[in-house]
Amino acid sequence: MSYTYNRLLKKIKQKDVPQHVAIIMDGNGRWAKMHKLSRSIGHKYGVERMKELLRVSKDAGIKYVTVYAFSTENWKRSSQEVGALMKLAVDFINRDIDEIASEGAKITILGDISALPEETREAVEYAVKKTEKNDELYFNVALNYGGRAEIVRAVKKIAEDVKNGVIDIDCVSEQTVSDNLFTAGMPDPDLIIRTAGEFRLSNFLPYQSAYSEIWISDPKLLWPDFAGKYFLKAIYDYQQRDRRFGAVK
Ligand code: FPP
Repeated sequence: MSYTYNRLLKKIKQKDVPQHVAIIMDGNGRWAKMHKLSRSIGHKYGVERMKELLRVSKDAGIKYVTVYAFSTENWKRSSQEVGALMKLAVDFINRDIDEIASEGAKITILGDISALPEETREAVEYAVKKTEKNDELYFNVALNYGGRAEIVRAVKKIAEDVKNGVIDIDCVSEQTVSDNLFTAGMPDPDLIIRTAGEFRLSNFLPYQSAYSEIWISDPKLLWPDFAGKYFLKAIYDYQQRDRRFGAVK
């Protein structure tokens, strides 16, 4: 089969599409190096792919898309690169929020935005507010996100509720934990995609990914080159898998 965009789109629509797809957009730095550009420019091209991803997700009928934009570990990068990523978030919102909002996408931030530079935090708060009533596509942006930190935060919130008598300790369940994560009320990701060939999840959605299918691209396929047809191919491959959730068919 030749993997053209329209052919793949038609194919995948013949089966159930995943409800929630999460993506580790890896390889911007390697892409930049390959093209003799700065890492920041690599991220800039990465943002363009992220926008394309939203269009393709809508075409495909995917309801929830989560992207890993900035991890709690990414602060270890040079201040220049961190600054460029923070600025890119602002530019992205200023330039694209009207279109995203009119397309019916609701932006939710996964992560602690209080630690972001003021300009970025304000832009992000604006984007969240502007799209809060939308329900066509749920676009989650993991920003200053760490999966273990998210679990610690949930544990603290639950402990507080137990202490205050809001819930009984015997009623704390897996659902209680889910309800206290940034993704509360959302389905767990059916599929996690990682570009650029690395076989790890890097602290991304550790609780939510318990039964996610994982799709890793070829190492040469870097995020800025991850055109819509590759995304559709990952979904097509996902649809060929047998998800048993621990049961026997
Ligand atoms: C990984 O590539 C990518 C990131 C750490 C950032 C991803 C961010 C974007 C695509 C832009 C969207 C961001 C915002 C804030 C709106 P890498 O730099 O680790 O690449 P490498 O492994 O090749 O060095």
